[in-house]
Amino acid sequence: MGSGQREDGCLTRSRLAAATDRAGGKALPWLARGANNRGMSKNLFSSLRLGAIEIPNRVVMAPMTRCRATPEGCLTALTAEYYRQRAGAGLIISEATQVSQQGIGYPCTPGIYTREHVEAWKPVVRAVHDAGGKMYCQLWHCGRVSHHEFQAGGVAPVSSSAVGKGGEVYTYTGPKPYPEPRALEMGEIAGVIEQYRHGAKMAQEAGFDGVELHGANGYLPDQFLRDGVNRRTDEWGGSIENRSRFMLEVMRALVAVWGADRVGVRLSPCGTFNDMSDSQPRATFAYVVKALGGMGLAYLHIMEAMEGDLKHGKGWPSWESIPVSYFRPMFTGPLITNAGFTKEKAEAYIARGDCDAVAFGVPYIANPDLVERFRTGAALAVPDVSTFYAGGARGYTDYPAMVKG
Ligand SMILES: Cc1cc2nc3c(=O)[nH]c(=O)nc-3n(C[C@H](O)[C@H](O)[C@H](O)COP(=O)(O)O)c2cc1C
Repeated sequence: MGSGQREDGCLTRSRLAAATDRAGGKALPWLARGANNRGMSKNLFSSLRLGAIEIPNRVVMAPMTRCRATPEGCLTALTAEYYRQRAGAGLIISEATQVSQQGIGYPCTPGIYTREHVEAWKPVVRAVHDAGGKMYCQLWHCGRVSHHEFQAGGVAPVSSSAVGKGGEVYTYTGPKPYPEPRALEMGEIAGVIEQYRHGAKMAQEAGFDGVELHGANGYLPDQFLRDGVNRRTDEWGGSIENRSRFMLEVMRALVAVWGADRVGVRLSPCGTFNDMSDSQPRATFAYVVKALGGMGLAYLHIMEAMEGDLKHGKGWPSWESIPVSYFRPMFTGPLITNAGFTKEKAEAYIARGDCDAVAFGVPYIANPDLVERFRTGAALAVPDVSTFYAGGARGYTDYPAMVKG
């Protein structure tokens, strides 16, 4: 992944280090405290209707890029095994998956726009289904978080505006400074929305249960939404309504393919990753959430602030940590939240009704049977951060399920 702040929000090292210390360097203690299941809410383990499907528990596997695809964006049998091992999650949201070559921003990330991509995804989804799981595909266009080297013809990456970001991008030929993107022409935007529609169609052919728009973490829909990047003066910029247009139009395209009850979207109102900011985050995201609320979606997935956001947000005067509870009254459909959750915190949120389900990212890396560990109060294994984005089977499919005593 790119240098500087990471999509895991810089939380990994500090959170895991603190937790590991307390556990004598062996395992995370989040669950050990509840080992006798005292006070365990039934709700985390109760089923939930998410649009067209019912999930057996409210533990969602968060989308996580693992950089194990071929340079052509095709996944292998290793990835089928990785997701199969994690099929106990109520729902798996796939790693972010490009809808076009223009949307690529990182090496060895999967695509969902060619016939080869579809054929590569099929056994992955089938493995999850055969193990009793459900899987959504997270649709991704990186926009400015890219480099000429990933683009057809070596052209500049695109964004809402010609506003670059700091830091370096990892390309196949080494780290390079992020280039200045080219602002999309008005006449090109429909074509980019079409890329998402095509990706959604391909995801259907691959056998997924639905699609989630990656509207979070500073990728293209977020680059349109937030005014730290979007400086446009046409109908795709300026007012909150105009800045939301791209996200909402993409959502309409996905709904047209799948039906609203098989489409979700992920937002990061407090996200600073990828140099993101907004002058009025509460107003901006309230508008979008209310607009999405009228679509009858399978779910809305709202991230709370991550550790990295708390640190980087200080440099942005309008930044604040907005809890998911702020958005709850604005969206009547299923609400998933995420970022830094423990089992106990998830239970508390669900019990209060702040959300309906919780997505877990880092805890899923080293604990393929996370739901079982939550259920039994077993300790959590600690993942190896050095293999998050590399390493083949190591740090990917070699974390064992707990031995049942
Ligand atoms: C290795 C890694 C890869 C990630 N890739 C994605 C991604 O592809 N799409 C996305 O929306 N978020 C991505 N994230 C963010 C996670 O989905 C999640 O929001 C974050 O890890 C915080 O949740 P956690 O505290 O439960 O780990 C990634 C995080 C990690 C650690």
